[in-house]
Amino acid sequence: MSVVPASIDSESLAVGSAEHRRLLGSFFLESHVEYVPERMQWPALADEELTRLRNLPFWQEAVSTENVTSNTVAAAAALERDPLVRRAIELQGFEEMRHARLLVELTSHYRIPVAPPPRFAPRSLENDFLFAGFGECFDSFFAFGLFALARDSGFFPPALVKVFEPVMQEEARHILFFVNWVKYRRAQLPRWRRPAFRLRCAWIILRQVASRVKTARGMGRPQPSGAGTSENFTLTAHQDLGAGITLHRLLGLCLAENERRMAEYDSRLKRPRLVPAIARLVFRAIPASV
Ligand SMILES: [Fe+2]
Ligand SMILES: [Fe+2]
Repeated sequence: MSVVPASIDSESLAVGSAEHRRLLGSFFLESHVEYVPERMQWPALADEELTRLRNLPFWQEAVSTENVTSNTVAAAAALERDPLVRRAIELQGFEEMRHARLLVELTSHYRIPVAPPPRFAPRSLENDFLFAGFGECFDSFFAFGLFALARDSGFFPPALVKVFEPVMQEEARHILFFVNWVKYRRAQLPRWRRPAFRLRCAWIILRQVASRVKTARGMGRPQPSGAGTSENFTLTAHQDLGAGITLHRLLGLCLAENERRMAEYDSRLKRPRLVPAIARLVFRAIPASV
């Protein structure tokens, strides 16, 4: 895997500068990994492993999310006039589409029933890209911890962990690219337009937070059958993946995995801060038994 070496130069980089733009594009393009979902060698699973995999409630939601994200990101490439940054967004769109293809292959190989979602057509290129990107900042952070939990508890057999490891690392690249793109984009605007852009981002983040608070408040309550049980599935999946895990341990895992995955990339790129900061706050505020 070709990755931009971490900490080549720890000096800070002016956000919105030509160097920031070059690093934003080149880090993303150079760290792309080749694999073809349709040529994947799916491991044979024992009956018990197969049942556990089929019983996970989030396959349909995962397929729908990747469908929305891949179409949103692919369309958002048109926002960029700079060829390097545009190519990076196009590549991200390709990678998201590849996640959707990988899920199609997995669910059809292991005969997990999912309905193919209708193609999603974004309405506003920038707002939809911002909404999807901030959503990924939440989802990927929790997915890192959940994946580690499924790996360490043996819930996922090692052969399946190997298949999904590049997907997890791609999500780390996506959110790193996204937070830097938001800052780069804002810096390109005339000064008087920047506060409105910040406000729009804050509003979108609030909508994402509100949706997750709603999911968290519903956790543990009986759900009406078929009603949104898998929405924001990265928040609730620990109940399925690791028997008896506390929220405290899960947050600790998410924080450690986030750190480890981000450490692969050039330290001059800005790191996603908001979600790890909220998680750190909660981690310190609650007792280890919760
Ligand atoms: Fe994805
Ligand atoms: Fe992604």
